[in-house]
This record gives sequence, structure tokens and C-alpha cells, in this order.
Amino acid sequence: MKKYSITLLRGDGIGPEIVDEAVKVLKAVSEKYGFSLEFTPALIGGAAIDATGVPLPQETVDQCLASDAVLLGAVGGPKWDSQPGNNRPEKGLLGIRAAMGLFANLRPAVVYSPLADASPLKPEIIGDSMDVMIVRELTGGIYFGTRGRETAEDGTLSAYDTERYSVPEIERIAHVAFETAMKRGKKVTSVDKANVLESSRLWRETVTRIAEQYPEVELNHQYVDNAAMQLCRNPKQFDVLLTSNIFGDILSDEASQIAGSIGMLASSSMGEAGKPGLYEPIHGSAPDIAGKGIANPLATILSAGMLLRYSLGEVEAADAIEAAVKKVLDDGIRTPDIAKPTETPVSTAVMGDAVVAAL
Ligand code: IPM
Ligand code: MG
Repeated sequence: MKKYSITLLRGDGIGPEIVDEAVKVLKAVSEKYGFSLEFTPALIGGAAIDATGVPLPQETVDQCLASDAVLLGAVGGPKWDSQPGNNRPEKGLLGIRAAMGLFANLRPAVVYSPLADASPLKPEIIGDSMDVMIVRELTGGIYFGTRGRETAEDGTLSAYDTERYSVPEIERIAHVAFETAMKRGKKVTSVDKANVLESSRLWRETVTRIAEQYPEVELNHQYVDNAAMQLCRNPKQFDVLLTSNIFGDILSDEASQIAGSIGMLASSSMGEAGKPGLYEPIHGSAPDIAGKGIANPLATILSAGMLLRYSLGEVEAADAIEAAVKKVLDDGIRTPDIAKPTETPVSTAVMGDAVVAAL
């Protein structure tokens, strides 16, 4: 029997609750499809600060690098807001992305037809489906550029962050976007702010050059402000959206709300071929609802599906998870975030059990 090792980074807030539901589903699907999963928890974020003083202990990095894949819940919360910038829970997340070399973040923004009316867009715009793949650069740009504070001679304090991209960094993420598009609708929209930013002009030049290697893929460019507007004006025009780190952060939250709920969207982060990937919901730790048992575990369950598909190659099991999630939604089972006023919502655990039953 094939055996895989999975590191669980439960993290903070609702992180532990939703990861536990995904583990339930992974256990059930592995039994059904005849492979075995070994789960090892490790600390990240605020939980790691509380236990060790730092948001990303070295043991966590070693454990993640030694496993076949990593499943992460969420990090952060008001408890750690007073931590200095370089010791915040989020620093743990950025640190593990960098340490694992996870330069490519895939965020599918999918509307499931039973939830089409959860989208804030009018039916004539959203129809009964939407399927956009955001390919976000994850280990460069302003998230990792030089930053600091300076006090001028007259005592005025200022702060700065630097957006910087090298040609190889842009090339490798562009390849991921074009290869992803080849398996989908063969269209890439590259997002930049080339009318203002030099880093965006290099981004556009480089993406345009890489596109020559993919003659079947149609490439167009949009400024980020226009892309934000087009996403709510006509999301169906998009197949693959290629973005820098910060533009992808912003547009993926917008796309998730258009898709109905941020509680539904999964993501995968990959580095070099053959290295472990990291899978996480795109939402945060939602400290306001943590511990109440009402969080939607579906984004994490769908992330576990992506883990099976992309890191373990267990495609049938991944398909089964996606089908089970669709079935549960078809059956009208809803956590509070996706329930209509007329529907009675279920708890996090009941939703997890329902997905297991639908398998
Ligand atoms: C995300 C999150 C993170 C990011 C935060 C928590 C650092 O918003 O994964 O989108 O900005 O990348
Ligand atoms: Mg974000």
C-alpha cells in the first residue's frame, strides 16, 4: 500500500477546527482508495509563538520539508497584534512559503451552482457558474522586498516597502500560468500596473516573451485597477489570472466573495517539481468565530483534495472529494456563512461528517 506523510499546520483561530474536518475526510478517502496517510502536527503562527516564542520554529520547517505535503489551517489573531512586525503570526506563514520555495500559488475561484445565489453579483452576470484560476506569485515582490523606517533630520518619520521582481522570478510564475491555461481554457490575463510601476513594465515584457512559447494560449494584459473592476463586471471573461504577490492577494479575496463565500475557496502552493506543496484555504483565522464550531470547513477539505491531486497524484481520490462537496451542497447542507435565512445551518463537524458520508 502506498504511504504518504502529511504535516498538519493547524495554526490559530478556526485553523484547528477546519483542519480536523479535512483530516476526517482524508482518512475516509484514503481507506476507500487504498493508500495510507501519516499525519504529523507541527506548530506555526500564534500557537508557535505561545509555545516557543517564534512564529516558525526550525522543527516545523524541517518537518514540512521532510513530508510529502503540508496542510495548513490559518494563522493570526488579535492576541498577537502587539507582537513586533518580524515576530507576528503572519511572519510564520511567509516564512514557511519562503523556506519551502513555494513560488506559485493557485487559487481556483469557482462558483458551485447550488451556491450561485450566494454571489453578490446579479444572476445575469454570474449565471450559474464561474471558474477562474488565479495564479499568484508567492515568494517575491513587496512581501519580501526591503522595508524599514527612517527618521529625517527634521524628525519626520517615514516607512517604505519595496516591490522588486527579477526576470527569472517572473519567468517561472509565467510558465506556471501558461501551463495551467493549457489544461483549461487556454487564456491568460496578466495583471500589472505597467502604466506606473517599473517592476510591472518588466513583468509585462517578460510575460509577453514567455507567451511566445505557448502559441495556443491567448494572452492579454490588464492594469490591476481595471482587473478589479472587470472581476465584478464580467468575471466570465477570465480563465487564468496571472498576478504578482500583492495583486493576487487582493484580487483573490475579491474573487472569493464573487464566488459566494470566502469559506469555499481552496489553494495550493508549489515550488520546484518533486518538492512538497502546501495547501490551505484562502481565508484567514476568523478569530471572531473560533471555537464556536460554526466555521465552514469546505475550503480546507477542498484544499486537501488539491493536495491529493497535485502532491500525491491520487487523482481519483481528489475527484471523489470534489464530487462529495458538490453532493453535500446539492443536498442543501450549509454552514452559516453560506446558508440563506430560510435554511437551518449545520456545524463545522456536521459538515465534515456529511462530506465523509457523501464519499
Ligand atoms: C493570504 C493571506 C496572507 C497573505 C496573510 C495572512 C499574510 O492574506 O494567504 O492571502 O497576504 O498572503
Ligand atoms: Mg489574502
